[in-house]
Amino acid sequence: MSQWEVLADREDPAKAEVRPAAPAPLQPGEVRLALEKLAMTTNNATYARFGDDGVIPFWNAFPGPEGYGRPPVWAYVKVTESAHPDVAVGGRFYGYVPMSSHHVIAAQPVDGGLMDTSPQRSFLHPWYLTFEPAGEPDPLDDRKAAVHPVYPAAYNLADLLERKADEGARAVVLTSASSKVSIGLAAELAHRGTGLRRIGLTSRGNAAFVAGLGLYDEVATYDAPASAEQGGPIVFVDVTGDPDLRRGVAGHHAANLAATVLVGFTHPAASVLPPPDMPGPDPEVFFTPAVEGQTAQEEGQEVYRARYAAAERRFLEHSTSWLTVRNGQGPEEIVAAYQALLAGEQRPDEIVALTP
Ligand SMILES: NC(=O)c1ccc[n+]([C@@H]2O[C@H](COP(=O)([O-])OP(=O)(O)OC[C@H]3O[C@@H](n4cnc5c(N)ncnc54)[C@H](OP(=O)(O)O)[C@@H]3O)[C@@H](O)[C@H]2O)c1
Repeated sequence: MSQWEVLADREDPAKAEVRPAAPAPLQPGEVRLALEKLAMTTNNATYARFGDDGVIPFWNAFPGPEGYGRPPVWAYVKVTESAHPDVAVGGRFYGYVPMSSHHVIAAQPVDGGLMDTSPQRSFLHPWYLTFEPAGEPDPLDDRKAAVHPVYPAAYNLADLLERKADEGARAVVLTSASSKVSIGLAAELAHRGTGLRRIGLTSRGNAAFVAGLGLYDEVATYDAPASAEQGGPIVFVDVTGDPDLRRGVAGHHAANLAATVLVGFTHPAASVLPPPDMPGPDPEVFFTPAVEGQTAQEEGQEVYRARYAAAERRFLEHSTSWLTVRNGQGPEEIVAAYQALLAGEQRPDEIVALTP
C-alpha cells in the first residue's frame, strides 16, 4: 500500500483502521506532502476525544467518510509534488496533518515556511495552519516531533507564572505532573529561578517517575495531596481536565488559592468546559495559540521566537535524561501508538517516533 490513511470513528475514536488512499491530482497552488516522521502525546488523544465537542471541532480539519475522521497529528513532512510556482519539491517542514501517508494543502509560502490556506481548515487558529521550515534532519528530531506541539504551553505558562510570582504567588500546584506540559513548565520555572515552590500531583503509578525527575519540590498523588499550606498564595495549573479532580484540588487549597489555570485534558473523565462550581477565584482558560500570538505581537516575532527556541532546545536536551525514544514504522504501528495513548497505556518516560 503506497498511499494510505487512518480513519477513526468520530464517536469512538479508539476504533481506527488503515485504508488505501487514492491520490487526487493537484489543483493550481496545491502541494502534496509526504509524512516523514511523527510522534504523539496525550495532546493527540485530546484532539480525538473533543473533536466533536464544539470548542474546536478538530474532526472537521481532516474529515473522512460520514462518521469518520482522520486523526490530527504533528509531523515532519516533505514536499513530493508541487503545483505552486514558489514551492519546490523536496522542502522539509513541520506541521499539522492527518494520520495519512500523504496530505494535500493549498500552500502559501511565508517566512521560509508554508501557510495552509485550504478552506476546509480556515476555522482553525493560524497556529495549526503554519508549516514551519524544518531544516536538515537533527538528532533531536524524534523528541522534537513529540514535544514541539506541546512545549509552547509549558513555556507560555512559565511566563504567566513568573508574573504571578512577581504579584506575590509562592507556589504552583501542577496536575498530571508526569506530562510533557507539566514537566516542561516545572523545568522552565526551575531554570528561571522564580522562587515558586513546584508541587507535582500525579497518579500513584507515575509518582516514582515524577519524583525521580528532581524538578518538583514536592510530589503528591491524587489520593494523598500535598499540604494545603504552601507558605503563601498558590496558583493551581490543571492539566487533567477532570472536573471532580479540579474541584477537589481547588477546594483543598482554597484558603490560599490566588489563581486557577485550566490547560489540559489528560484524564478520561476530562470535560472540555470549566466546571461551573470551582472553589476559589474564577478559573482562567489557557489557550496557548492565543497567548503565544499575543506575546509574540507585543515583543516582536523575532525576539519571542529566539527566546522560545533556546528554551525548547534546552528542554529537548534535558529530556535525554528521562525520556527514551522507541522507533516504529508503518501505519499499523502508528495506529497502535495512537490507541495506546487513548487507553492511557503510554509510559511517561517514553515516546514512539514513527515513520510511515
Ligand atoms: N491549553 C492548551 O493550549 C494546551 C496546549 C498543549 C497541550 N494541552 C493539553 O495538555 C495535556 C497534556 O499534554 P502532554 O502532551 O503534556 O501529554 P503527555 O505528556 O502525553 O501526558 C501523559 C500523562 O497524562 C496522564 N494521562 C494520559 N492518559 C491518561 C489516561 N488515559 N488516564 C489517566 N491519566 C492519563 C498521565 O499523567 P498523570 O498520571 O501524572 O496524571 C500521563 O503520564 C493534553 O490534554 C493536551 O491536549 C493544552
